[in-house]
Amino acid sequence: MTVLAVDAGTTGVTALVVAEDGRVESQGYEEFAQYFPEPGHVEHEPDEIWEATLSACRTALAGASGTPTCVGVTNQRETAVLWDRATLAAPRRAIVWQDRRTAPICARLREGGHEERVAELTGLRLDPYFTGTKFTWLSEHAPDLWGEAGAGRVALGTVDSYIVSRMTGGARHVTDASNASRTLLYDLSAAAWSPELCELFNVPLRALPEIVPSYGEAGRTDPSAFLGLDLPVSGIAGDQQAALFGQGCFSPGDVKCTYGTGSFVLINTGERIVRSDAGLLTTVAWQKPSGELTYALEGAIFVTGAAVQWLRDGLGLLGTAPESEAVARSVPDSGGVVFVPALTGLGAPHWDPSARGAIVGLTRGTTRAHLVRATLEAIAFEVRDVVEVMTGAAGLDVPTLKADGGASANDLLMQMQADQLATPVERPVVHDTTALGAAFLAGLGTGLWSSPEELARTWRLDRRFEPGERDDAAYKHWLRAVERAKHWA
Ligand code: G3P
Repeated sequence: MTVLAVDAGTTGVTALVVAEDGRVESQGYEEFAQYFPEPGHVEHEPDEIWEATLSACRTALAGASGTPTCVGVTNQRETAVLWDRATLAAPRRAIVWQDRRTAPICARLREGGHEERVAELTGLRLDPYFTGTKFTWLSEHAPDLWGEAGAGRVALGTVDSYIVSRMTGGARHVTDASNASRTLLYDLSAAAWSPELCELFNVPLRALPEIVPSYGEAGRTDPSAFLGLDLPVSGIAGDQQAALFGQGCFSPGDVKCTYGTGSFVLINTGERIVRSDAGLLTTVAWQKPSGELTYALEGAIFVTGAAVQWLRDGLGLLGTAPESEAVARSVPDSGGVVFVPALTGLGAPHWDPSARGAIVGLTRGTTRAHLVRATLEAIAFEVRDVVEVMTGAAGLDVPTLKADGGASANDLLMQMQADQLATPVERPVVHDTTALGAAFLAGLGTGLWSSPEELARTWRLDRRFEPGERDDAAYKHWLRAVERAKHWA
């Protein structure tokens, strides 16, 4: 028996068919377009996300041994999507989590004295990253659509809700608690949408999805909408929470870092809501069918793998992202080049939407290899930056870091990471733990697997990177450059 998992990420959709022993039987991947209509704006076309989902699933299913028994969905979080409840067509592009256009709305709310209350209720902060102010922006710039939402004709949600609506032919408008906890509209303690926050952000509650547990049947796919399949949709979670699950981080204190477009360090805090005023976020990790919540503390870094993509696509310095390892290894160090990849502002722990990327230390001797190496170093420094807050201000212990995501395949980066953290880094055989986590949730939801313990036994180590010498001076040097990148735009 197998499970189909869909990971609708920021740059593309991955589909996996996962067998009962946790092996990946087959997979598909399809990219979709990124739109940058103005500096700082990032948008996606929902129809294109859906087309990419169908295409990735088709490829995965073609290589599978049989028809899967259920489907799990995981997704880029926080992105604001609108669609017509009757036709499922999106009346405008989605506003992506990386989009900075709502910085003035955040400033306005902060000046209005709302930050403390928002943080208290949501565990988050007033930053353009989250969905809430994207909805506020839409209410101000697309009042007609907002009227339709208020009248119940247009649905609001995140990418998970949109995909599940499409899969179920419009029958279900749902989100899970982990995704809801990223919107600025969810009350962490009450485990429900907050009418107070909906009013503050000007969001009609009736347009929001129903919040369901992260596993258990949330709906059924409509064969006429979804590749002829009639399957329970039995797992839903935000991608970082799904990766935490896929890494088997089921116990309080377990930590993972996913190296994707950005990098996200999550530590399981169990049933405890741990708060941090040092720049970390408190979030729902997952919700059991019984309603019981597991929480996590998160360090969200916006640009890591995207910096390597920028070297490839923006500067043309690389043919492919994996090439970065060989190019970086061709020089012994970055030759004094320091890169702060604040290309969409800075997330944890600095939270400065007006920061912008900076490269300092260039000389006549600088080569592309130095810049590529400085980029990998920057990723390791950024992750160290948030782990230091976890182990320092938040008082948590990080004895090992479980790494996953595309860039975790880069051995040089993983070694730099272990060195910078002075902590071993463990990489599992399946790097795609986000989709794997969605498969685990879905299979747990239908009883294919009976418990997280059973799932934990499928985790296999690919390689453990032991820490070597730690270059503290280089990290401190990089922190100086971070200060220069702040308050720029
Ligand atoms: O919070 C944003 C995160 O969910 C995006 O993840 O892997 O698509 O970059 P990813």
